[in-house]
Amino acid sequence: MSRSSIRRPFIAGNWKMHGSQATNAALLAGLKAGLPNLPKGEAGDDAAEIAVFAPYPYLDQVSRLAAGSRLAWGAQDVSRHAVGAYTGEVAASMLRDFGCRYALVGHSERRSLHGESDALVAEKFSALETVGIVPALCLGETLAERQAGDTLKVVFRQLDAVLAVCGAPALLAYEPVWAIGTGLTATPEEAQAVHLALRAHVAARDAAAAERLRIVYGGSVKAGNAAALFAMPDIDGALVGGAALDADEFLAICRAINV
Ligand code: 13P
Repeated sequence: MSRSSIRRPFIAGNWKMHGSQATNAALLAGLKAGLPNLPKGEAGDDAAEIAVFAPYPYLDQVSRLAAGSRLAWGAQDVSRHAVGAYTGEVAASMLRDFGCRYALVGHSERRSLHGESDALVAEKFSALETVGIVPALCLGETLAERQAGDTLKVVFRQLDAVLAVCGAPALLAYEPVWAIGTGLTATPEEAQAVHLALRAHVAARDAAAAERLRIVYGGSVKAGNAAALFAMPDIDGALVGGAALDADEFLAICRAINV
């Protein structure tokens, strides 16, 4: 059985804190124009699921402009609280209210710049699951942790915090911190080794969920390195930062999945 028949590849752009109504509209128009030209799966289904994670204020714009296209969309974060006096926070139910399907949790920028702990990330994960939004759990080690030989210890700790309070995840993004926005990419073999270990870690609890689990790679993915990453059996797609802000570059990454 081919990988694509078990796990539909997922390629997503994380726009981070970039964009304006004008640039978003131009980017989405470029993506929508290119999406019909992407390869189809064996059964005639779309080969890969393509998504964008936009800043909160633009989610409504993205939902309207993506409607009727192959483009899925999601949020970059969520509150751990369901409702209440939490100024500036956005509840999972609010995202759900206008059809949000995915949300990132635990991105390394949230963990390092905003002090998010593993326990907080697990609470956010749970808040999303409660309303039926698929959390994309981001994991990854720093350069110092990799050099100390602690990569698997770190990503297992991040994953275990979620497994302790929720079921097995459906979507993981392995993003080595040292590869994000640096131009340094994990080699396909380095990334594959971590993806395989993450899948085995989930399989120890739930073998069927591990087979279905989509694990995407993030960290300086570009059109030029995507195909080699996607050739690895446990790399099910990509979470793309900088290169997702250019429609042609992002579409070239989508084309490289070539399932
Ligand atoms: P870059 O692709 O810019 O390295 O960002 C990766 C990332 O953080 C995606 O979430």
